Amino acid sequence: MKILYAVSEALPFIATGGLGDVGGSLPVALRKRMAGCRVVLPLYAGIRKEMRDKLKFTTHFNVPVSWRNQYCGVFELSDNGVTYYLLDNQYYFQRDGLYGHYDDAERFAFFSRAALELCAYTDFKPDVIHCNDWQTALIPVYQSLIYAKKPEYSHIKTVLTIHNIQYQGIYSKAILGDVFGIGEEYADILAYNGSLNLLKGGIECADRLTTVSPTYAGEILDAWYSHGLDSILNARRFKLSGILNGIDTVSYDPETDKEIFVNYSAAQPEGKAPNKAALQKRLGLPVKADAPLIGIVSRLVQHKGFDLVKQSLEELLLTSDAQMAVLGSGDFEYESFFAGMAEQYPDRLKQYKGFIPELARKIYAGSDIFLMPSKSEPCGLSQMIALRYGSIPVVRETGGLKDSITDNTDGNGNGFVFTGYSAQEMLQALRRALDAYHDQETWRGLVSRALASDNSWSRSAAEYMRLYRELTAQR
Ligand code: GLC
Repeated sequence: MKILYAVSEALPFIATGGLGDVGGSLPVALRKRMAGCRVVLPLYAGIRKEMRDKLKFTTHFNVPVSWRNQYCGVFELSDNGVTYYLLDNQYYFQRDGLYGHYDDAERFAFFSRAALELCAYTDFKPDVIHCNDWQTALIPVYQSLIYAKKPEYSHIKTVLTIHNIQYQGIYSKAILGDVFGIGEEYADILAYNGSLNLLKGGIECADRLTTVSPTYAGEILDAWYSHGLDSILNARRFKLSGILNGIDTVSYDPETDKEIFVNYSAAQPEGKAPNKAALQKRLGLPVKADAPLIGIVSRLVQHKGFDLVKQSLEELLLTSDAQMAVLGSGDFEYESFFAGMAEQYPDRLKQYKGFIPELARKIYAGSDIFLMPSKSEPCGLSQMIALRYGSIPVVRETGGLKDSITDNTDGNGNGFVFTGYSAQEMLQALRRALDAYHDQETWRGLVSRALASDNSWSRSAAEYMRLYRELTAQR
């Protein structure tokens, strides 16, 4: 079985969010279980120099982008048992940032066709091309319209994984022929709500669809979560399933992590306390062992649930002894809210803007409680990383949060869960967490269950394998 994993970001090369984590860790897990899993991604200007220096140029070819004929260089690297293909076109990818350019449609149409063309120019002949989000959603479209008719491609199946349905790749109808090179007679594949919608096209054409948690697979059939695609997905639900993401448990391991202050493990959880003290010190919070420290590491955007935090944080600070460490950037509204709170309550809350991986790890290791009140959360990786470092998640019951965190009501859970999207419900869950924190025996149990929990890729990689096998056996 050979899989070509097509993705617009993957660690250790480049990442802007959870997609890059998954692009970096799922192929490694798959490769351990089968003959071939290779990754293809664009060669962006922003790829770190030490990775760029290791790349080897292997071949080049031309890619049709409608009437254009564009150069594509292929650079290769083997890392951790996986071969990576980085596709080079300086005009499209030697720019600042990964997304958000005026011609993203053309850039990712190029990348999608180039990933398909690649199969003709290397000796790696995939059985399945596994695509991710709108950036590679044209691969299933081109496969069914163009490539499946060629003998060397006819056997290839496509899987499309939706990591977040909010981002769909929506463009003007005017570019169907000129940019995508698709004739009017096929306009219906991409057309949706008066525009062209790349994710919708991928949903129509992929052989199988997956999302990143079983609960999210159900949620996106509902208008509250679907960002307009529920009817399209309901018509295609026979091919939709949800497979929970895992995390990279080698990189995220409190026993070996070089970024945290003191290493510790499930067998020796005492190491958490010095991490907390050192974090408090670094942040300039009072160093108090018995003040519960709540961590937030997140993009500060609406769907992460920060409206609820805005409404109730002051009440929480005034009625408890909790401290807070907030790391993240995003919407001005939330950035300035946390900045204001940090100014008003300097002994209780500290805020850092941006994404600072080293500090993120220190917050996972040094916090007692990890807050993630998302309005929607396709999977979410932070709650799993928090568990791995023994920080107890307080989450809203949605998507992957529902599938990975169970409430501690019966004394056997690994976190605290609330259901309704309301500040009061979030506060109640936080208060239950704070009460549990002050009961030493309960808390020791929670932390040791968290530290022992297994969110590695092993189960999920096996599920992907099953899906690929089912697909290719249908041949
Ligand atoms: C997106 C989702 C997030 C998920 C990640 C990886 O960023 O918003 O919930 O964990 O993709 O699949």
